[in-house]
Amino acid sequence: MMKVFQPSTALFIASWAVIGYIQAVTLEVKEGNSTCIKAELSALISITYSTSNSTGTGRVSLPDSTSVNATRSSCGTDGGSPWLVAVFGFGHELGMSFSTNDRVYSVTNLTLQYNLSDSSLFPEANSSDVVTVTSAAVGISAPINTTYRCQSPSTITLGGATVTFSDMRLEAYMPGNQLSPTESLCVADQNSTTTPATPTTTMTTTTKPPAPAPPGTPEQGSYSVKDSNGTVCLLAKMGLQLNVSYVPESQNKTVQELVNLTPNLTLSSGSCGTSSATLTLTQEQTTSLSFSFTMNSTSNKYHLSGINLLANWSNMAVPFSANNTNLDYLRSTVGRSYMCNTEQTLVVAQSFSLNTFKLQVQPFGVTTNQFAAAEECQMDQDQMLIPIIVGAALAGLVLIVLIAYLIGRKRSHAGYQTI
Ligand SMILES: *[C@@H]1O[C@H](CO)[C@@H](O)[C@H](O)[C@H]1NC(C)=O
Ligand SMILES: *[C@@H]1O[C@H](CO)[C@@H](O)[C@H](O)[C@H]1NC(C)=O
Ligand SMILES: *[C@@H]1O[C@H](CO)[C@@H](O)[C@H](O)[C@H]1NC(C)=O
Ligand SMILES: *[C@@H]1O[C@H](CO)[C@@H](O)[C@H](O)[C@H]1NC(C)=O
Ligand SMILES: *[C@@H]1O[C@H](CO)[C@@H](O)[C@H](O)[C@H]1NC(C)=O
Ligand SMILES: *[C@@H]1O[C@H](CO)[C@@H](O)[C@H](O)[C@H]1NC(C)=O
Ligand SMILES: *[C@@H]1O[C@H](CO)[C@@H](O)[C@H](O)[C@H]1NC(C)=O
Ligand SMILES: *[C@@H]1O[C@H](CO)[C@@H](O)[C@H](O)[C@H]1NC(C)=O
Ligand SMILES: *[C@@H]1O[C@H](CO)[C@@H](O)[C@H](O)[C@H]1NC(C)=O
Ligand SMILES: *[C@@H]1O[C@H](CO)[C@@H](O)[C@H](O)[C@H]1NC(C)=O
Ligand SMILES: *[C@@H]1O[C@H](CO)[C@@H](O)[C@H](O)[C@H]1NC(C)=O
Ligand SMILES: *[C@@H]1O[C@H](CO)[C@@H](O)[C@H](O)[C@H]1NC(C)=O
Repeated sequence: MMKVFQPSTALFIASWAVIGYIQAVTLEVKEGNSTCIKAELSALISITYSTSNSTGTGRVSLPDSTSVNATRSSCGTDGGSPWLVAVFGFGHELGMSFSTNDRVYSVTNLTLQYNLSDSSLFPEANSSDVVTVTSAAVGISAPINTTYRCQSPSTITLGGATVTFSDMRLEAYMPGNQLSPTESLCVADQNSTTTPATPTTTMTTTTKPPAPAPPGTPEQGSYSVKDSNGTVCLLAKMGLQLNVSYVPESQNKTVQELVNLTPNLTLSSGSCGTSSATLTLTQEQTTSLSFSFTMNSTSNKYHLSGINLLANWSNMAVPFSANNTNLDYLRSTVGRSYMCNTEQTLVVAQSFSLNTFKLQVQPFGVTTNQFAAAEECQMDQDQMLIPIIVGAALAGLVLIVLIAYLIGRKRSHAGYQTI
């Protein structure tokens, strides 16, 4: 079959040709003989800088000579994050750090370091500083043991710089030394026609934005936080449903939306202190939900004192943010976990409440990676009372029927005797 170039593909190639030839580089981070991060990609970097009387823009594509700085890069076996640091030119660097929840891995941040004294790239720059910029909204994630593939260009903004990746194949937490054969395509590739396809199938391809998880009862996820020694110090199991009111881009009115967190797309992080602990859940770079727990060592109690939500969903006019640090929920005793199987509504702000399902948390005193004995919420205790009350009522009913029967029998018996 003849390979048909789509007009968009031709345009894309032409636009790259104008800017310059974009090379693909292969970058690998190893520990001993095993590879943990491998990336094949092209990157076009564009940096805005100041000259004495104006601004300039330096553009460079990641050159063939790009290499991995082995001492700065890491596989994360020391407890830190796996980190790829690629160096090129006169002290320029591109870094990517990764994290995982054992099901999905993602790029947590992208760092670009550039050396303004490189006059070939930054002619007439008024400074000779080395500048570092970072972006935490990278949007690269894929299920573990799969290769993330994105042939379509995707641009990431870091301060005054942009990095445009294309022809990207990347994997971290690799099970072997080669990229996994199973590929996870980015959204742009799913909708594009870069794979050989006949024009007719192109027309039937529908562009579907990532739909929010359907409402209904959310799935229960298990989350944890580790301290600096790599020991689990906070445990949580829960299903979470966000109830958010916001103004969508295309409308004038506020809409109320229920969104369930999907555990296998959610990463957990956080910190544990002696009297405070936090758990942050991040779903696909668009939703970040943080819980702050506070302990009172005098009363030996802890509670959920703060909830913070940041959401940047595709239909929002502006990113949504709600924060309340003055809450008093999930109150329990230090050394115990808090449990509530019944649905609870935690009101955070007028525009945001959080519905929890099948919840168990322990923010302090976790030992051996397990929940301590649970203190159950009042609603669960009430729920347990219902079967007892129903049972007692039924028993009473049976007793009444029995008595009525006995009385009736005695009466009819007596009646028979009189005839
Ligand atoms: C790496 O491989 C070489 C040869 O295959 C072997 O001799 C060496 O012990 C290996 N090193 C590690 C750390 O596994
Ligand atoms: C800066 O100003 C000088 C003199 O006005 C001019 O010759 C030069 O081209 C300007 N540089 C830039 C980068 O605009
Ligand atoms: C980016 O990730 C690296 C590695 O995890 C970390 O050291 C660095 O502090 C992070 N930068 C930002 C701005 O979060
Ligand atoms: C920046 O570039 C200058 C000149 O090209 C070079 O001498 C210097 O070592 C570079 N700085 C770093 C941190 O690599
Ligand atoms: C370079 O120019 C910018 C804008 O004109 C100015 O803000 C900055 O301070 C200058 N830097 C140096 C080192 O002169
Ligand atoms: C990934 O692959 C490795 C080795 O093949 C296997 O041990 C591991 O369980 C796999 N992980 C997942 C989440 O499938
Ligand atoms: C980490 O381990 C060291 C030595 O075992 C211990 O002194 C320290 O308290 C631990 N830190 C945390 C945060 O548990
Ligand atoms: C969501 O919040 C609104 C008020 O902000 C409330 O009326 C509604 O019942 C809530 N829905 C659910 C399912 O919790
Ligand atoms: C929003 O409301 C303003 C004023 O009420 C109106 O002029 C505008 O047409 C509305 N826009 C949409 C998209 O409904
Ligand atoms: C996440 O879980 C849902 C339902 O359990 C499943 O359909 C989906 O394929 C999973 N996604 C990933 C990336 O594992
Ligand atoms: C801690 O608990 C004690 C006793 O219940 C109370 O008097 C005190 O105000 C609490 N401290 C804080 C910071 O809430
Ligand atoms: C929100 O998402 C849009 C597009 O996805 C992006 O342009 C914007 O920078 C994001 N805003 C924040 C604060 O992350």
